[in-house]
Amino acid sequence: MTIKLRKQTIEILKMIKNKQSNVIATDLGKEMNIDYIVLMSAVNELIDYNLGGFEEEEIYQISLNAEGITYLKNGLPERQLLNLLLKNEIKEIAIEELLNRSKLDQSIFYIGISNLKKNRWIAQSKTAGENKIYLVVDKFPQTKLEKFLAEFKDNRALDHSTLSNDALKLFDKLNKRKLINKTRKTQRIIYLTDKGKKISISEIEELKQVSKITPEMLSSGSWRNYDLKPFDVTKPGPLLKAGKMHPLVSLINEIREIFLSMGFIEIRGPIIESAFYNFDALFQPQDHPAREMQDTFYLNNPKTAKLPDKDRVLAVQETHENGGESGSLGWGYKWDVNKAKKTVLRTHTTATTMRRLAQFYKNNDKVPVKVFCIDRVFRNESVDKSHLAEFTQIEGIVIDDNVTLCDLIGLLSEFYRKMGFKKIITRPGFFPYTEPSMEVSVYYDKLGEWLEMGGSGIFRPEVTYPWGIKEPTRVLAWGQGLERIAMLYYGREDIRDFYINPLKWLRQQSYLK
Ligand code: PHE
Repeated sequence: MTIKLRKQTIEILKMIKNKQSNVIATDLGKEMNIDYIVLMSAVNELIDYNLGGFEEEEIYQISLNAEGITYLKNGLPERQLLNLLLKNEIKEIAIEELLNRSKLDQSIFYIGISNLKKNRWIAQSKTAGENKIYLVVDKFPQTKLEKFLAEFKDNRALDHSTLSNDALKLFDKLNKRKLINKTRKTQRIIYLTDKGKKISISEIEELKQVSKITPEMLSSGSWRNYDLKPFDVTKPGPLLKAGKMHPLVSLINEIREIFLSMGFIEIRGPIIESAFYNFDALFQPQDHPAREMQDTFYLNNPKTAKLPDKDRVLAVQETHENGGESGSLGWGYKWDVNKAKKTVLRTHTTATTMRRLAQFYKNNDKVPVKVFCIDRVFRNESVDKSHLAEFTQIEGIVIDDNVTLCDLIGLLSEFYRKMGFKKIITRPGFFPYTEPSMEVSVYYDKLGEWLEMGGSGIFRPEVTYPWGIKEPTRVLAWGQGLERIAMLYYGREDIRDFYINPLKWLRQQSYLK
């Protein structure tokens, strides 16, 4: 079969053959002055005849930031200071005076001084309240760092992976001085197959093929002489960077749909919450470790929150002190209203659930009540690949008569089944506000493992009685973090990705859900 290629493709093939190595698509495009898309469509032609192909590679591009660019133009601060000294034939000067003359920002001035010292161009003496510098040599050749800086001229960007060891050290210096911009890029490397390497250009026939018909071709009728290239929709086209929904938002919407399909109604609550709703109403004693500063963010402004009606506050107080009407003995300590008034960043959406119970009392609502909350919570955690200090929780509750643990397990099975997990297992757990409490794990087919999802349980009488929710009315509840599921769902290994937003990954997300 004779190989027929377009003229430009033959030229590109010739060029790559001459280079005798793989080429970076953007470099080749620049060198041959060919538009990237046109170049890639030529590469597709090479692919069609198994003459070549391309691979994608992630690179790390470095260039100067705005400050770096001004130094490239005017010299690094140390060079600027030196030039000032040389121009005015100054061999020694008080630091203060040089600072005034230099018109440099104080912090930049001192960076300059420190580097003049590191270059061993000046010495400094501090005697009798005098802080002076002296020039100690008379030649000031371009430093390695300055040479490296010059490589960025004309807005050049360098590929980090191609830097030599020496250059890497210099790069680190510029980077530490915060003069560098770093960007991740995907680049395409074009290569020739063995066939492409062996074939001689004379074996290739030039094809008069066009991919589009121009108005001129139509009016002159010359379009009849061309072979119109069919579109191949399977070939990679230009990357379209249109806006789309963030993966986390799209997952939240799916989970919201699941709750809605199960007859639940969404509730929202404040992010700035009172310790009362976040802890006290949930029967968490005031000396509970989870309430400590190292776990919870307390706020100075606003410092205190409004509490509900006095009689409800009293009901919660009595529950803590002696069990109140709940039939419990309580915790047996003196409850402090000031601790309950403190403001916190909500540590769990159960605080919002609590507000719904308070509303239930106020409105004298009828059962059943089925609500859910998907919202942001905050914990004083150090952030790493599996922990965030600010994340999202999903929580559902059912208030109804005579509901039992079996109903809860039924709800959980249904909920997680709709999320795509066919099997769940529950084990005894502990939460200060539920009794009994269950940990929920789901079976994850892909890994063949059981994964812990979250907590659940029936709210204790100590939690529900102050709000008039009494036997046989009970509250079933379950809750868990969202980002862990999101990691499974999107196959991310680092939980921070949902907030750092790696562009390459976001761009790979589909438009339609
Ligand atoms: N609030 C619990 C958490 O933050 C989850 C939970 C919700 C447990 C409801 C029981 C009932 O982990």
